[in-house]
Amino acid sequence: MCFYRSFIRPLLFRFDPEQSHYLAHEVIAKYLPLIASFAKKFIYQRDDLQTVFFGKTLSNPIGLAAGFDKNGDLVHALKYLGFGYAEIGSISAQSHEGNPEPRLWRLPADNALINWLGLNSEGAITIAEKLATSKFSLPVGINIVKSNKPDIKSDTAVEDLLFTFRTIRHLPILYVVVNISCVNTPDGILQETNILASFLESIDRENPNKLPILIKLSEDGNDELIEKIVEIGKQFSIAGYICGNTSRQRPPLKTEKHIVDGIENGGLSGPPIKQLVLPLCRKVYQLKTPDQIIISNGGIANGQDAYDYIRAGSSLVQLYTALVYEGPSLVRNICEELSSLLRRDNLTLSQAVGVGCSKRASVS
Ligand SMILES: Cc1cc2nc3c(=O)[nH]c(=O)nc-3n(C[C@H](O)[C@H](O)[C@H](O)COP(=O)(O)O)c2cc1C
Repeated sequence: MCFYRSFIRPLLFRFDPEQSHYLAHEVIAKYLPLIASFAKKFIYQRDDLQTVFFGKTLSNPIGLAAGFDKNGDLVHALKYLGFGYAEIGSISAQSHEGNPEPRLWRLPADNALINWLGLNSEGAITIAEKLATSKFSLPVGINIVKSNKPDIKSDTAVEDLLFTFRTIRHLPILYVVVNISCVNTPDGILQETNILASFLESIDRENPNKLPILIKLSEDGNDELIEKIVEIGKQFSIAGYICGNTSRQRPPLKTEKHIVDGIENGGLSGPPIKQLVLPLCRKVYQLKTPDQIIISNGGIANGQDAYDYIRAGSSLVQLYTALVYEGPSLVRNICEELSSLLRRDNLTLSQAVGVGCSKRASVS
């Protein structure tokens, strides 16, 4: 019997989804010593899933996806949920309260969420100051995004992103992600690839510590857009890509149609989007250069899901929604299952990356 699913989840699910999110935050942040005493229960102990990412050894390839700890409040505690690394953000230059509530919905029949948060952020300066005095319990990546103000566009959009980058670049972080794929703002996913190109060109000069830069891609982008972005990524030698984000699409769901239709706007996450993100991951694996890496997220809820993404070309994976439904033992369970799948197929983690893809197309 799973204690979280039987007792904690029913309690949390009595609250409004956003309220229970902040309740979970408080528990994780405040009751760290107690959580730490359970650490053995939640942390995968073997070293067969250790992986080296840009020179840093991660205890396992399962990370916390962006959005759960938007403002960097939990970096001291996230290790105790078993993650090998965590992504903080999205962080924008300007603080923003996000869209009006309600803006987060559960679809329990699908173990899914729809969110229309709209990039609520405390703003880069506040978060960077907080992170500068925080004790990181695990390696941390930072996800940056253009401020959610539609009047910030073109050159000012590049300046806005650069401001955030300059504000966080001195922190002891593993990587920086540029989120160009949020579906929950009036801007939507970035179509003007020249903004991305200008930003990456400037970053080349603004990155003295040579922090690895990744781009977060959307499964909602068409093939032409994805190809263009990967081409730009090659031109500026970026470190890699995060495949996918929440989706505006509504693949077949078990949740009743009138409930889904009643939620007008928002990005879907959880198991139903895996079928959308896996093809994106395979596509990017074919397009990218061999030294660029892929981190994937989208409906990862068990070891088989993680293994599917790794076989599709991902070196690391991330999750958010499954944590809400499965609780703190999720990551350890995923690691155990992933480890046994690798043993079954007689592969190491690094050998498994991309084995499920057809032979790589020759890349110029
Ligand atoms: C409530 C919520 C908020 C999110 N906020 C962000 C965000 O600020 N920045 C971002 O890049 N992705 C954000 N995401 C997307 C996740 O990082 C992830 O890409 C997506 O949820 C798919 O993974 P999952 O199916 O494991 O949840 C958010 C997702 C959820 C559910």
